[in-house]
Amino acid sequence: MFNAIEIEKIRSEFPILSALSGKRPLVYLDNAATAQKPQCVIDAVSRFYSGGNANIHRGLYRLSAEATAAFERARESVARFINAREPRECIFTRGATEAINLVAASWGMKYLREGDEILLTQMEHHADIVPWQLVAERTGAKIVAAPILPNGELDVPAWKNLLTERTRFVGISAMSNALGVVNPVKELVAAAHAVGALALVDGAQSAAHGITDVREIDCDFFVFSGHKVFGPTGIGVLYGRAEILNAMPPYQGGGDMIEKVDFSGTTFREIPERFEAGTPNICGAVALGVALDYFSPLRLAAAEHEAALLRYATEKLTAVPGLKIFGDTPNKASVISFQIEGIHPSDIGTMLDTYGIAVRVGHHCAMPLMKALGVTGTVRASFAFYNTFAEVDAFVDALLRIQKMF
Ligand code: ALA
Repeated sequence: MFNAIEIEKIRSEFPILSALSGKRPLVYLDNAATAQKPQCVIDAVSRFYSGGNANIHRGLYRLSAEATAAFERARESVARFINAREPRECIFTRGATEAINLVAASWGMKYLREGDEILLTQMEHHADIVPWQLVAERTGAKIVAAPILPNGELDVPAWKNLLTERTRFVGISAMSNALGVVNPVKELVAAAHAVGALALVDGAQSAAHGITDVREIDCDFFVFSGHKVFGPTGIGVLYGRAEILNAMPPYQGGGDMIEKVDFSGTTFREIPERFEAGTPNICGAVALGVALDYFSPLRLAAAEHEAALLRYATEKLTAVPGLKIFGDTPNKASVISFQIEGIHPSDIGTMLDTYGIAVRVGHHCAMPLMKALGVTGTVRASFAFYNTFAEVDAFVDALLRIQKMF
């Protein structure tokens, strides 16, 4: 937990948090969509392009060697952040979406056959559904979606019943981006392994809120995006067990991922380069490393602070007539998804904006989840560790005013 002085210090490290939205102070409650960036990350980007830019793994000159070292140091920061056994198990991608597409296209196309099943959940983000649909169409494998309970939690017994000897792969969100509901990923991964299936944990939403330890979870793959953990957009990570990744074919071909190229045939490098064809987002990776090193020591206190904000906001929102929370369970983190009777979510979002309050409205890239909840969309407020109780007050006051207008 942070005290008021610590929160002010943290907020002062994020320049955008003192910006205005129109004439009002910005109240940024859309952290599930993307988190804001501390000055050290902004400086890392500027420093890289002002004095450190060169291509990596290719140059014999000092600047290239330094860029390569910075890029590989960032991989070490990622490995520390998720507790990977070795940095080479951490592949840089464009984000969580590309990381899942990589696994689906590479592992899925190689190993899935007609009759095999991929077990997903109704609360998956589209990024953990559509890549599997593309692969299922091409391989004849079948997607099975485990249901959720009315309170938005995964129906774990139903999920376990759907897990059979036909299940070759499971994809599980560690934390629902739309509701904030947290899944018992360790238990689910162990159950998947017991039937011989591999398990991918989508950590896009959980990475900034505590669920990241790949050895503790014991998953085969873990993915997350840099921009939701205070790093830049366009950079993310695929973690995979070394022996599984090295047995997968390349996802893309190009420079840096080969051992030898000849028109009679090409051989590929091992991980991580095998999956990093072409010039990667070098600066993005370096700045992500800075973001993770910045955030890591704050993680425990951040989770406590967010939990307190969530409790406070949930309690205060009971004062808003007609407000219904989706994902009404204590098993969640940092997100409140809701509707107010008689007011369209888009109207609420647009009117909150006039108060300087940024939230997301709509299906949150989770249409099957919205369908299961019987809605087309919600308003979603999502907190980060730099949000304050005063911001929650401003948010609830604005909702009370908006509700009275209808
Ligand atoms: N997946 C992001 C969200 O939940 C963009 O808003």
